[in-house]
Amino acid sequence: MPRPILATIDTHALADNLGAVSEFARATLPGVFVWAVIKARGYGHGIEAAVRGFAQADGLALLDFDEAVQCRTLGWRKPILLLEGFFEPADLALVQAYELAIVVHCAEQLDMLESATLGRPVDAWVKLNSGMHRLGFQPAEYRRQYARALALQAGGCLGQVGKMTHFARADDDPGTTRAQLDCFRSITQGLPGPVSVCNSAATLTAGLSRTLGDGPQAVRPGVCLYGASPFPAKTAAELHLRPAMTLASVLISTHRMQAGDGLGYGHAYRAPHDMRVGIVACGYADGYPRHAPTGTPVQVAGVRTRLLGTVSMDMLAVDLEPVPQAGPGAPVVLWGEGGPSVNEVAAASATIGYELLTALAPRVPRRILPAVGSG
Ligand SMILES: Cc1ncc(COP(=O)(O)O)c(C=O)c1O
Repeated sequence: MPRPILATIDTHALADNLGAVSEFARATLPGVFVWAVIKARGYGHGIEAAVRGFAQADGLALLDFDEAVQCRTLGWRKPILLLEGFFEPADLALVQAYELAIVVHCAEQLDMLESATLGRPVDAWVKLNSGMHRLGFQPAEYRRQYARALALQAGGCLGQVGKMTHFARADDDPGTTRAQLDCFRSITQGLPGPVSVCNSAATLTAGLSRTLGDGPQAVRPGVCLYGASPFPAKTAAELHLRPAMTLASVLISTHRMQAGDGLGYGHAYRAPHDMRVGIVACGYADGYPRHAPTGTPVQVAGVRTRLLGTVSMDMLAVDLEPVPQAGPGAPVVLWGEGGPSVNEVAAASATIGYELLTALAPRVPRRILPAVGSG
């Protein structure tokens, strides 16, 4: 029997979340183009599950060429956007062969395009650094660089050319987002082409995209499509999102501790009284956060209980006081359907749901539902 840990990926949940988010976006912006962001192997859910679950998306956005190639191999025919664009001239052969769209965020990329001979025009999104200070042209140089992109378009090297930016604090600070929007609006005013600014948090902020007018827009939601909330102060359930990943295991041992006994490495937890604990086949080498403290929620046999002590590489301990009947073999949900949300586990561990989803270790077997052929 394989080690009893499993990540179940529900492609119906992916599809439902995409439907709900698209409907929300289209309520204010009819016809908005929805890129489903599937970088980092579909936020840890796997490219195959993402391609199946997001079949109704208008396009997929990611970073790695191998993931883009996998999407094409799996039969994805609609647009694919490379969110960091390309890195060296040789990449342009792949961009062409797999019909990929690119983000252009630095002058060196335009230099490479100007020196390239392309067999067919490539769609490009020219990125503005409106305040994130990560990728993108500075406001003072944006229009000059956009003009270069338009010249490449006129010369047949680029196809559609669009304007884009990325928000630093759409999840927690409307003031910063407004300032970035103002910057974007004033710098891109009058430039031709569609617009793309919204990540999950911005897409789910009513009316935000509307402030950019009636022109064609594309949104780029990521984490919300997987059923996690992008907002620290709002749950996924409040946003009508369903978890697409459920990380489950079982109790592989139970035992009694006497008052004063220390549990696990460092004896980070000491039994305050006689108590029963359970040992779960899941540890930090599976992607469970090592820094999750005592008290982090865990579901055992359908009952919510808590993590105790230090997470080991392959195991963690849980309090069985609320679930006295649970013995070896009892089902455990670390996060997902029937257990705590990934946001709850992340918040307890001083991180974010994104990190937990994308850190799921390759050694954890994944089961994609529904199984192919079962409808
Ligand atoms: C450029 C870009 N667009 C969209 C996204 C999606 O973000 P989120 O998962 O917060 O929706 C990301 C993710 O980091 C990104 O880098």
